[in-house]
Amino acid sequence: MSENKIVFPENFLWGSASAAYQIEGAYDLDGKGPSIWDEFVKIPGKTFKGTNGELAVDHYHRFKEDVALMKELGLKAYRFSVAWSRVLPNGRGTVNEAGLNFYKELVDELIENGIEPVLTIYHWDLPLALQEEYQGFESRKIVDDFVEYSTLLFETFRGKVKYWVSLNEQNIFTSHGYLMGTHPPGVQDPKRFYQVNHHANLVNAAIIKKFHDLKMPGQIGPSFAYSPTYAIDADPKNELAQTNAEDFLAHNWLDVYVWGVYPKPVLKYLKDNGLDFEITDADRELLKAAKPDFLGINYYQTNTMAFNPLAGGVGAGVANTSGEKGTSSESGVPGLYKSVNNPFVEKTNWDWNIDPVGLQIGLRRLESRYRLPILITENGLGEYDKVEDGKVHDDYRIDYLQKHVLAINEAIKEGVDVLGYCTWSFTDLLSWLNGYQKRYGFVYVDQDETQEGTLNRLKKDSFYWYQKTIAENGENLK
Ligand code: BG6
Repeated sequence: MSENKIVFPENFLWGSASAAYQIEGAYDLDGKGPSIWDEFVKIPGKTFKGTNGELAVDHYHRFKEDVALMKELGLKAYRFSVAWSRVLPNGRGTVNEAGLNFYKELVDELIENGIEPVLTIYHWDLPLALQEEYQGFESRKIVDDFVEYSTLLFETFRGKVKYWVSLNEQNIFTSHGYLMGTHPPGVQDPKRFYQVNHHANLVNAAIIKKFHDLKMPGQIGPSFAYSPTYAIDADPKNELAQTNAEDFLAHNWLDVYVWGVYPKPVLKYLKDNGLDFEITDADRELLKAAKPDFLGINYYQTNTMAFNPLAGGVGAGVANTSGEKGTSSESGVPGLYKSVNNPFVEKTNWDWNIDPVGLQIGLRRLESRYRLPILITENGLGEYDKVEDGKVHDDYRIDYLQKHVLAINEAIKEGVDVLGYCTWSFTDLLSWLNGYQKRYGFVYVDQDETQEGTLNRLKKDSFYWYQKTIAENGENLK
């Protein structure tokens, strides 16, 4: 649309991100209680080659080294998550001071090094105690426990942490946990999925409301996995499929977060198909009383939609968790939409579409519909990396990140209020279902599927690229 002028604001949060289970390790140390992931990974066949986060990349013991690397890179912000069962081993009640201290030290270390902490309250690792006691998100009891846990964090980090993420990718953890059965608790039941998802919406609203009631200094919002959709072509029935997909896969969460209401076509579909969930007037009130201060967006790719007939249509598909290109299949919901190949975009070895323009389009759509500031809380490329002569030449990652940063620049020029950009991820880490071979970091970690690596850290070429980009506030990207 316009010349490639660089317009990142002076205070733009150039950041990077991680999640507790994927980096910390120390899964049972210093009083930490088990989480649902600690149990789930023990089930044969659930994760790639049986990998787990018991040791992960041992950030728990190496956080000072990792923060020193962040400082060297010049990060302005670092997004991390708190493992709930590290601070409240039973989900509620007695606080595990040793666990809480770990996060206090981490936050202090970040602040001392001039890095803004962005704290994610929940990145999927629910305390096992709550799953066992009342089946976690299947019960409304989860709301009070979540508020107790969040309040502990609010009180502990008041004034120190200014950016808070309530739930990470509610759309992913509910659908993988209750529709596809690929995340804990491994359920495949659409009726339960919609009820669980409603409870998660109540949780999100209750945390945000509490944050505002406590007049916390700073801002809070959810992180949503947004994959903007395209229609495969201008055939009206494919356009309708795309409209369905946008309602069911995006607005069904974002409308609830921002406006406190579910999209009408979704509610109608659920009622017609006996999938409607229990919602009370008090629920409706709570949902409306909790508007986020910003939208956290995790962007990796777009999806392309086509008509999917009710009779004989495509249902759940096969995901590529092996890194063998071309092993994923079409997936969809008969009568609504199906996700198909987009011939115009390249794909990663895990069959994820590489589409920087899709990020610009997504940001524009979000701005038009919701008019909220946006913090990009994740974006990155999962690929195989090779160490050669003590170096990792990940020019493919630099190319990916550079194109996405330029797409953000375009969106900012077009009026989108983007607070910052957190890449996924800072160090290499455990990819939940894909093991260690799918790497995302600026910092290579010697860890693999044997889980016997040295855990040594090594700066990749992308580390230096991001260092320069931050130092020049994006000016090098022309
Ligand atoms: C997001 C999650 O879904 O994408 C991260 O918030 C995750 O935790 C990232 O690691 C990349 O996904 P994957 O499946 O490649 O690890």
